[in-house]
Amino acid sequence: MEYNIRETTIADLDAIMEVQKQAFGYDKEARLVAQLLKDETAKPFVSLLAFDKEEAIGHILFTRAYFSGKEVSPMMHILAPLAVKPAYQRQGIGGLLIKEGLHLLQAIGSEVVFVLGHKEYYPKYGFTTHAAHLGYLPPYKMPEENGVYWMVQPIGPTGYEVGKGNVKCCEELNKPEHWRNEESDR
Ligand SMILES: CC(C)(COP(=O)(O)OP(=O)(O)OC[C@H]1O[C@@H](n2cnc3c(N)ncnc32)[C@H](O)[C@@H]1OP(=O)(O)O)[C@@H](O)C(=O)NCCC(=O)NCCS
Repeated sequence: MEYNIRETTIADLDAIMEVQKQAFGYDKEARLVAQLLKDETAKPFVSLLAFDKEEAIGHILFTRAYFSGKEVSPMMHILAPLAVKPAYQRQGIGGLLIKEGLHLLQAIGSEVVFVLGHKEYYPKYGFTTHAAHLGYLPPYKMPEENGVYWMVQPIGPTGYEVGKGNVKCCEELNKPEHWRNEESDR
């Protein structure tokens, strides 16, 4: 099957939100994406849609990340969220979106990418688990057993030499509600 991937525009917002809603089964991530796309501190972001003919079937967003407390941060990004419509999952579309996104991030000079997510999935695309053990602390403290979900991938010419520190996201994604342990909320 041939899928097309392209960067999104403002006109794609409804299609993006529909993909996010269907993939997660609720609209929290869809609303988050709408907020992130308006957040000046998230820029430059990389937002990609995958299409099967005219239908949007997958979406990925990378927004800017920073080292907190440092005046100058290398250009870094965080992947959140990634979504593929249920009918199209397990066909490699998520992988295509990650690879194309990393390629575009390299082209704009991004040097490090973070993700908080499935520990079996993201290492297939170059991410290393336990980023905190490598010196990249997440925006909020997480229990040691959750550290495996916090991952990093250097994509710049200097690799890990680029520096280390406490990671801070753009204003919207740095809000504590996006980092709470859902289990402990119940
Ligand atoms: C996670 C998600 C984006 C993966 O996209 P996808 O297009 O289905 O993934 P790909 O086809 O590129 O990769 C499939 C591989 O990843 C694995 N995989 C897919 N989803 C997984 C998950 N939730 N946990 C662990 N592994 C997963 C599959 O086992 C598969 O490996 P296999 O081919 O060896 O069986 C998609 O399932 C999705 O949208 N899920 C709901 C939303 C979500 O959880 N987003 C990620 C938040 S971190």
